[in-house]
Amino acid sequence: MISDQMYSSINGLVTHFEKLANEYRQMRLFLYAHPSICLKGFGRMLQNESKERWHTSEKVCMFMKRNGRPITLDASPKPKNDFTTIRQIFDYAVQLEEQTVNAITNLVTQSIQAKDYTSEKFLKDLLEYCIYEHQEVKEIQHIIIMTEEDKTAMMLENDKLYEEYDPHNYYKTHYDNCEEE
Ligand SMILES: [Fe+2]
Repeated sequence: MISDQMYSSINGLVTHFEKLANEYRQMRLFLYAHPSICLKGFGRMLQNESKERWHTSEKVCMFMKRNGRPITLDASPKPKNDFTTIRQIFDYAVQLEEQTVNAITNLVTQSIQAKDYTSEKFLKDLLEYCIYEHQEVKEIQHIIIMTEEDKTAMMLENDKLYEEYDPHNYYKTHYDNCEEE
């Protein structure tokens, strides 16, 4: 059983992960509109992250459902859309993932204090997954920092460099379930 203390916080996670899904989708749409370069690999990666966050939201719903709790969605805030560089997108993504890990860490602590073992187990599994996702996004941020904005453009226009760093190939193994355009 989910305790009353934990119920509304866990219900809030449903909206939280939907918000993340929207944020990633907006980031992807930003890449669509990018004037000079084709960043397909990163766009595909962001699309995949969006889908994953939506699935995570569903996972929280299933947990609530299994425990006979109603699910209430809150209004999702408008995603950030005033990026000017690709670097900013990934900095923002890392920031969102950090907030998520911190929020769930706090919920794990709360569930232990409330002796709510059902929620504790669920939240610990969720935390493990979110830490993994955070690392994944950080890895990409690292690549972006290493190449820098203008060099990323150069890299994608230079065949040899592209072959070496092509984000599409690089992430292909990680994002096999992405839809092809
Ligand atoms: Fe992911």
